[in-house]
Amino acid sequence: MSEQLKTGVIGLGILGSQHVRFLEKHSETKVVAVADIRGDRAREIGSQVGAQPYEDYVSMLKDQTLDIVVVATPDAFHKDPVLAAIRAGAPTIILEKPMATITADAEEMFEAAERAGARMFVNYANRGSALDRATYQVIQRGLLGQVIYGDVHLDDNISVPTRMWGARTKDWVGASSTAHFLLSHVVDFLRWVLSPSEVSDVYAISQRRVLGYTPDLYDAFLTFDSGAKFRVKAEWIKHIDGLVEFALSFSGSEGSLSYIKRPGFGEVEGWRANVSERLSPHELFAFQNDLAGEGINVRALLHRPDPTAGELKAGGGDLRYGLEAFAAPLDSWRVVRSAVDAVLEDTLTPSSWDRYGPLPTGIDGLRQTQVVAAIVESAERDAAIRLPA
Ligand SMILES: NC(=O)c1ccc[n+]([C@@H]2O[C@H](COP(=O)([O-])OP(=O)(O)OC[C@H]3O[C@@H](n4cnc5c(N)ncnc54)[C@H](O)[C@@H]3O)[C@@H](O)[C@H]2O)c1
Repeated sequence: MSEQLKTGVIGLGILGSQHVRFLEKHSETKVVAVADIRGDRAREIGSQVGAQPYEDYVSMLKDQTLDIVVVATPDAFHKDPVLAAIRAGAPTIILEKPMATITADAEEMFEAAERAGARMFVNYANRGSALDRATYQVIQRGLLGQVIYGDVHLDDNISVPTRMWGARTKDWVGASSTAHFLLSHVVDFLRWVLSPSEVSDVYAISQRRVLGYTPDLYDAFLTFDSGAKFRVKAEWIKHIDGLVEFALSFSGSEGSLSYIKRPGFGEVEGWRANVSERLSPHELFAFQNDLAGEGINVRALLHRPDPTAGELKAGGGDLRYGLEAFAAPLDSWRVVRSAVDAVLEDTLTPSSWDRYGPLPTGIDGLRQTQVVAAIVESAERDAAIRLPA
């Protein structure tokens, strides 16, 4: 490609400014225009990268012919800029998660993109890091047998809903919640690793006793159409030292996987898959090599676990195979990088995303929004919700 792709970014807060930096560093993209209702912010970011600043994204979309439009406005305000970009003829939109906070918005965006033939990628960044991808491969290749149950918690420090966005924090989180901001990541991650299975039923609870302007937390049970059941929980009232705590565990019919992505007190980051006994050592090492070939380094284990606690002994002692890693390096930009590759290769699934299913697009955004909306509705009505097939 001789010319760089012309990009414009709408919403220049915490994430939008990171998008600008990412696209500016990428050799195949150039940020030519940026827009934010906070004009000063648009001018500040625009001057850093030599991009034309706008207070009004509609003017930006009218003036500029863009190959990629990035939308990074707050959770509840994705629809209008996305629809405007589609109307202006933008061929590719990269949208921050969650796709929307209500299903009607997600449907409208999805249908508009389909009608216009625009590509729309949603940045579910948790599909990107090495151990996320190792989790995908372990589950998709059946190394745990059938996935039966799991639990995931993704909690933020209470400073997120009380201070993270400065003076605009209360309005920001008041139009969102832990379900939209955090469980959107979890729901997408589970849909991805368990695909083609989809969430069929939801039951959730919430609390509203501390923050007042947004729920304190959501705690939900998701049933997938494969029969797998997951408990997913996200809090905004935790007095913890770190910004985020994130842990996932999967119990399969033949193995278990435990993944501490952002550790809490007394925990260490790490990832361990105790895989099916049906695997031969040869298959285990071939799988390890396969992952290494993709830059995912995990140790292969051949060991005899001996489950004891004090004088209690639960037997065991059989030879087991596993894979493990003690660091969980994040790669928050892999999804976006692959979305740019998709444009360069004129496809929806570029070679850099090969073997990881499709890149997250509008249909994933729509399904994620439906599940999160069901979590919110279930907690409000204290009733189980069945999702449309
Ligand atoms: N992918 C990830 O891992 C990840 C992580 C954090 C946040 N996010 C998502 O990124 C999005 C942005 O979050 P943030 O933390 O950067 O928020 P932010 O408030 O820091 O940034 C949003 C920006 O949009 C601007 N804005 C609001 N309405 C606008 C409009 N109509 N036109 C133009 N600009 C407008 C605001 O002035 C602000 O600068 C959210 O949807 C959030 O959930 C994604």
